[in-house]
Amino acid sequence: MIQMNRLMLRYPTGKTALSGMTMNIEKGRFAYLTGESGAGKSSLLRCLYGGVRPSSGQLTVQGVDVRTASDGQIRKLRRDIGIIFQDHRLLFSRTVFENVALPLRVQGWKPDRLVARAEKVLEFVGLKDRLWSFPEALSGGEQQRVAIARAMSTKPPLILADEPTGNLDVDTARNVMDYLMELNHQGSTVIMATHDLHLLDTHPGDIFRLHAGALAEELHLVSGNRRRLSGGANDVPEI
Ligand SMILES: Nc1ncnc2c1ncn2[C@@H]1O[C@H](COP(=O)(O)OP(=O)(O)O)[C@@H](O)[C@H]1O
Ligand SMILES: [Mg+2]
Repeated sequence: MIQMNRLMLRYPTGKTALSGMTMNIEKGRFAYLTGESGAGKSSLLRCLYGGVRPSSGQLTVQGVDVRTASDGQIRKLRRDIGIIFQDHRLLFSRTVFENVALPLRVQGWKPDRLVARAEKVLEFVGLKDRLWSFPEALSGGEQQRVAIARAMSTKPPLILADEPTGNLDVDTARNVMDYLMELNHQGSTVIMATHDLHLLDTHPGDIFRLHAGALAEELHLVSGNRRRLSGGANDVPEI
């Protein structure tokens, strides 16, 4: 689903955020991006949805060459991607229903299908009874579940999440993870940047540890068993 070769990203400020990142993420995986603050996790996610264009190297997402694609091709690619941010970025002046319906409206869904779909995804995250609430009236975990519902509403094959549990306590974070894992089991590829490595005990996946803009280590966790693929000297990845 994602192929990357010696990907570089230099911001207009002159800062090099990605300094030769090479990795592949297969369709259907649950992939964590870990690594110190400033390692390049958010920058990499930004490249994956075409929010910034890489400076050099190769990046293919869903068959689209993100470096050379036209703006129209990037817009089309984005329709296949659901994005979840740490601060969820819900619209506080709109109801829960309207927040979730927005991506569907953008895609021109007809009203009856749109309502049914919004209800279905809110039911999935356990918030069907909060349809007409405003985000303000929800807890942090519930707000993040609305963000998940919004990201999944258009059935995107790829979900990107940037520290989605960063503002949540451990139990709430695990609950949010349950929904992301379930989406993955239902077929979406999920790529999530996180500091919360303790989540990996209950929610294993592929770990890509970034350091200073490059891939430092790759591990594949299956049901708690850790299988080292490359790099590093310890059994447990460093934060
Ligand atoms: N919009 C930006 N403009 C300039 N530099 C940036 C921008 N965003 C991030 N950076 C820099 O790029 C590096 C990687 O940042 P980031 O991708 O946010 O890392 P992480 O998400 O792993 O903390 C950092 O040094 C950061 O200061
Ligand atoms: Mg970040």
